[in-house]
Amino acid sequence: MLDRIDHVGIAALDLDGAVAFYARAFGVAPSFREVVEEQGVEEAMIRVGESWIQLLGARGPDTPVGRFLSSRGPGLHHVGYAVGDIEAALARLKAEGVPLIDERPRRGSRGSLVAFAHPKGAGGVLVELVQP
Ligand code: CO
Repeated sequence: MLDRIDHVGIAALDLDGAVAFYARAFGVAPSFREVVEEQGVEEAMIRVGESWIQLLGARGPDTPVGRFLSSRGPGLHHVGYAVGDIEAALARLKAEGVPLIDERPRRGSRGSLVAFAHPKGAGGVLVELVQP
């Protein structure tokens, strides 16, 4: 059911600093930045071939990424897999007993639909399904 890796999410304490680091170290720059208020996050999306690096900055300490940064520090946050049918993918994970953070898809960046599955049911990896 997975078409490809859509993006890898990386939490950053300082989004501008992370963007500057990726420019210096890897010679890449964001195609766009987007604030997703309902998730309390600002994203800088860097295209790498058919996939993206999603640098994540918290809009405050009491947001999902803010809480992740205080407990775990900066670094790998989640893997986003592109799927053709997010409803079918969610139903399959649920049938497999994977705990879902989002029972229903919600709006992600680039006009996509997204849903998260809990890392405790997915080998310690926060999994995001993305229907582009
Ligand atoms: Co993501």
